[in-house]
Amino acid sequence: MKNENSINLSNSLKLQQRADRQHSRYKLTASERIEILVDPGSFIEIDSLVVHRCNEFGLSDQHYKGDGVIVGYGKVNNRLIAICSQDFTIFGGSFGEMHARKVHKIQDMALKAKIPIVFMNDSGGARIQEGVDSLGGYGEAFMRNVKSSGVIPQISVIMGPCAGGAVYSPGLTDFIFMVSGTSYMYVTGPDVVKNVTHEIVNHEKLGGSKVHSTKSGVCDAVFDDDIECLLQIRRLINFLPMSNSSPVPVLPSKDSPDRISPSLDKIVPDDSIKPYNMMNIIQKLVDEDGDFFEIKKDFAQNIITGFSRIDGSAIGIVANQPLHMAGCIDINASIKAARFIRFCDAFNIPILTLVDVPGFLPGTNQEHNGIIIDGAKLIFAYAEATVPKVTLIVRKAYGGAYIVMGSKHLGGDIVLSWENAEIAVMGADAAVSILYKNQLSAKDKSTKISDYKQKFATSKIAASRGFIDDVILHPRNTRRAICNAFEILKNKKDTNQFWKKHDNLPL
Ligand code: COA
Repeated sequence: MKNENSINLSNSLKLQQRADRQHSRYKLTASERIEILVDPGSFIEIDSLVVHRCNEFGLSDQHYKGDGVIVGYGKVNNRLIAICSQDFTIFGGSFGEMHARKVHKIQDMALKAKIPIVFMNDSGGARIQEGVDSLGGYGEAFMRNVKSSGVIPQISVIMGPCAGGAVYSPGLTDFIFMVSGTSYMYVTGPDVVKNVTHEIVNHEKLGGSKVHSTKSGVCDAVFDDDIECLLQIRRLINFLPMSNSSPVPVLPSKDSPDRISPSLDKIVPDDSIKPYNMMNIIQKLVDEDGDFFEIKKDFAQNIITGFSRIDGSAIGIVANQPLHMAGCIDINASIKAARFIRFCDAFNIPILTLVDVPGFLPGTNQEHNGIIIDGAKLIFAYAEATVPKVTLIVRKAYGGAYIVMGSKHLGGDIVLSWENAEIAVMGADAAVSILYKNQLSAKDKSTKISDYKQKFATSKIAASRGFIDDVILHPRNTRRAICNAFEILKNKKDTNQFWKKHDNLPL
């Protein structure tokens, strides 16, 4: 029989070998990750002495302190966060009974203390030796994820395997970040897929960072390695309040709210279907020293979502991107923007919407896959959001998409437009074709098109009805108008009027 000393020695040798293996795969260990995430020396660990209680399948002589997860508190730029970092060097970071209890404890503490929580996932999933204790532990973590949703920001970082039940805790949090090449997430792995569907696929193609950041939309951003990923999460946390009852972070800006940007006067091409990059407009409007943290950059690129700052205060930006699919709204763009707006609203982050949208993407693909319900998500998100909502129409806002994109009709508090913006049911060409059923001569058609443009394809009528609060004659002055708008709305307090258990968001 082995004595306790020899067991301890062989266990610590194993731990070193596993840490070396982790490094050889370009992954950091759980504690190294925490060191990078938090301000130096700020981490306070709890439950470091916890061990498992299982004696099955050879676990009786393997008692590693901490049971495969490090939990505690640390500071990011001097603001507290809770941390849960799975340790792949101990039982592959697998989720056993005591491991789960540690996770639950830090989740409970984060909610009580009203501080954000960051989960770093690197785990072989449910601990196979512990059976249902392990599975139950996931369920109780999910319950806590749901209770915390909308109260404290929850951020998941996938830094290794994340499979089976494990994926649903990240799936319930506000953001999921992944590391390129070393992380993957799926409900069932390649072996099960092969057995059940006979499809042959590897980890990367099934649930790697590229798949989730471009196709499924599960992942909010991908970073090259652990260090870059953790530094970027520090950057994100700078934009987030500690909880739904904490103020939005303000970083005093040196950039004057009155800054004029002459290049904005020429930034939008005269030809209303010519693409241009909406990012260039965003950059000119937000604080020059304010940063822009883009969410889901590689997914549904026809809409841009991200955090930035106006006059020092954090805001969320939603903007059509004419560079991709002419900025049309499709299923993916609706879901992406709706989710972002709901996050901003839950955490009191004001929303700036920049509009240049030709409409919803037509076609059987969109209709058959449910654009009606998914587009409704975006309407729902704007309509229920009570945070300050400022909207700027920069070029065109057609049809249903005009209504959806932060319009007055859905509660836009201050809606602005550039002078040449077109607000109409549809583009003049399409309108004339429908009205006259293609029976006009080329000359008559062109006269009717220009009549239609003069009458409807301008912001004047919308402004005359009060649907637009102000028309900005010189785009160069837009930053001032937007800063003023957010300043006016600074103390906006609005609640949804009627008691309800909860709404019935179209899902
Ligand atoms: N339960 C218990 N131990 C686990 C585990 C789990 N779910 N997943 C991994 N481990 C252990 C391994 O037994 C190994 O232990 P050892 O160092 O004492 O040999 C250690 O963690 C590292 O795992 P290893 O398989 O060597 O790492 P890998 O990087 O080659 O593979 C996985 C990683 C996740 C692909 C692989 O471990 C795996 O398939 N695990 C099982 C996944 C699963 O089916 N989970 C249950 C359902 S969610």
